[in-house]
Formats: sequence, structure tokens, C-alpha cells
Amino acid sequence: MMFELIIAGFAILLLAVFIKNSRLGHGSLPPGPTPLPIIGHFHLLGPLIHHSFRDLCSSYGPLIYLRLGSVPCVVASTPELAKELLKTNDLTFSSRKHSLAIDHLTYSSSFAFSPYGPYWRFIKKMSTFEFLGNRALNQFLPVRRKELHQFLGVLHDKSKVCDSVNVTEELLKLSSNIISQIILSLRCSGTDNEAEGVRTLVREVTQMFGEFNVSDFFWFCRNLDFQGYRKKFEDVHRRYDALLEKIITNREIERKNKISTGGEYKARDLLDMMLDALEDKSSEVELTREHIKALVLDFITAATDTTASATEWALAELINNPKCFEWNVVDSGAVKIKGNAAHPVDMTERPGLTAPRFHELVCAPVPRPALDSLQL
Ligand code: HEM
Repeated sequence: MMFELIIAGFAILLLAVFIKNSRLGHGSLPPGPTPLPIIGHFHLLGPLIHHSFRDLCSSYGPLIYLRLGSVPCVVASTPELAKELLKTNDLTFSSRKHSLAIDHLTYSSSFAFSPYGPYWRFIKKMSTFEFLGNRALNQFLPVRRKELHQFLGVLHDKSKVCDSVNVTEELLKLSSNIISQIILSLRCSGTDNEAEGVRTLVREVTQMFGEFNVSDFFWFCRNLDFQGYRKKFEDVHRRYDALLEKIITNREIERKNKISTGGEYKARDLLDMMLDALEDKSSEVELTREHIKALVLDFITAATDTTASATEWALAELINNPKCFEWNVVDSGAVKIKGNAAHPVDMTERPGLTAPRFHELVCAPVPRPALDSLQL
């Protein structure tokens, strides 16, 4: 259990992982407890890894050195150090730590795990202006509104018969339904088998991302598969690939049919926008089908649980402290749920929107490999 939680959810304050041992020779390392042979400091980490880091940092200082198996790491625990590492030296720490499962499951083409470079900059620009830009957000407003009303309908029906509601589950359904429609025009909970298939597979992928695989932490196990994880992630990848291939191929046929009958094909979701970019021969970065499959996975895994738990915290905050939502909703005209509100929710700052920031939705940034040696 301890090992599984070590990397589960990347709940790590900041783990700057020095990939090559040779880099360690360039200067003195930060202080840290004495490591045990082979396992290093693994025995000092508990299920809540950020708590273990906090306790170790209170004994050894804000910057500590740990060795996890054969992987040397540095943990930074103050906002000043985080700023120094992630802002002042952002290029040195701009990449994310990979695992064997991540590389395989994301076709080594993921945006979230790609190093800083032309591909990362291209997708960042596409995400900001195309995939998640104002035009796309407005285009998907009816989807968000319809799903929100459906969610409120469930709460309303349950409350009428004094039944309890598993809000966590309902919020996950809400975010899954919105995200899968925005990305693939598929609705997860319902009769759509393909959508349910994507949802199940993405859950399996996310789980594989969080598994503790000894092959990632002990160099002499790299080519072994003691826990059977390689077999598992290869199987999940094969099934995800087959399903996405089918969805993409069907969409390509639909696009071609529309154009061959003289009609104009209008992009209706992120998949269409990605296929447009794939077909654009003048694009500054040439996208491949693998990029698209990896991007779909990136967006679904990054958006679903995070959105659901952010909303859950906001609701909990509201219930416990209604004062934090004291602003004049009707006068501002920003948030009107009743009827057919003409305007989308105003995303500019509102007092209530700051409430979820009290909570660490993702305990901390993902582990980052140091691309160069650094003197602090
Ligand atoms: C409240 C909800 C959300 C929270 C709390 C959240 C949190 C995060 C965090 C902590 C990171 C990593 C940042 C880092 O390592 O520096 C991240 C990255 C990312 N998130 Fe979110 N996220 C949320 C919603 C979303 C949504 C809705 C999408 C997409 C539709 C999304 C897409 C991504 C992507 C693609 C990345 C990787 C970006 C990169 O490499 O620069 N997230 N998110």
C-alpha cells in the first residue's frame, strides 16, 4: 500500500528527479536522512506522501535529498524554493517525470508529458486559442447547460422523495458527460456503449499511471515485470488504441461523406479540431494519429476528476460557510441558473470562486526531472 501511494496521483510537493547519477557529482547535495541499502529512503514515506515530506523537511530543512530505490530526488517545500525552481529555473524543470506505463499508454506523444519544445508550444497555443479558447467554450455552452440541468434535476428528484445522493458520483458523471461530449461528442452515462468504453478505459489508464512499478525505481528491474504491470498496461493500451481507432475512423468517414456530397463539414468537437489540424499541411507542427489519440487521453484524464473534485470542494465550502458566496448574483447578471440564461457564467473573479483555492485539489506539482545541474 505504501508503495502504491508513493506515486499515486503524483501527490508530491515537488520532486526534482535527477535522471543521471553523474549529475550528482557536480556539487554538494541537500541534507537528508541516512538511506538504507537498495531501497534508499522508501521506508520513510507513508501513505500520505506530502505529509511524510512535510515531516522530513521539518527535521532536515526546506530542501532535502532523498533516494527512492535507485532514483535520486530533491524535495523542495517552501513557496520561495518552488518559485526559484519552477519560475526562475523553469527551463531546467520544465519536463515531467515519465514512467514505463506513462510512456507506453501515452504513445510517447502526450502533451502533458512532453518536454518543453516545438510540440509542447504548438499544443499549448492550440489549447489556448482553439481547443479551449472563447469560441470553443461558447460553442459548448449548450452541452454544459444541458448536463448541469440534468445534474440539478437528479438532486431535485432525490430531495423531493427525501432520498440521499452520492454527490461525488453524480459530479463525476456530470464532468465525464461534459468532457466526453466536448472531446468526442459522446455521452458517457446513457446508452452510448462507445462512450462507456472510453470512460472505463480512461479510468484504467489513470489507475495504471498511479501504480507503483518497481521497474521504474530500481535500475536492475527495468526489464523485468515482477508485478505483471507491463502486461496490464500493454493490454489497456491495446484496447484503448482499438477503440480510439474505431472512433477516429468513423469520424473520418463522416467528414469525407459530407464533403463528397458537396456539403461543408463544421467541426463539432475537439476531435474535429484535431483532425483539422492533422489535415492542415501548412501547420507548423505535423500532427499524427498517435498525437490525436494521446491528446484525447490527455484531456479526458486531466479534466474529469479535477473538475469533479473542484466542484465538490466548492459545494462543501458553500454548505459549511454560506457567507463566502455573499455577492449579488441577480444584480451582477453573471450567474443565472434559472430559465434560459442568456449569458454564460462570468469567469472573472467572484468571491465564491476563491473558496476552492483553500483546498489542495492536486496536492502539488507532478515530479519533474532536472534537465541540468543547478546551484541553489
Ligand atoms: C479544477 C479543475 C482542474 C485542476 C485543479 C487542474 C489542475 C492541474 C494541475 C495541478 C496541472 C499540472 C500543473 C503542473 O504540473 O505545473 C494540470 C495540468 C494540465 N491540465 Fe488541468 N486542472 C483542472 C482542469 C483541467 C481541464 C478542464 C482541462 C482540459 C480540458 C485540463 C487540462 C490540463 C492539461 C492538458 C495539463 C497539462 C498542461 C501542460 O503540460 O502544461 N485541466 N492541471
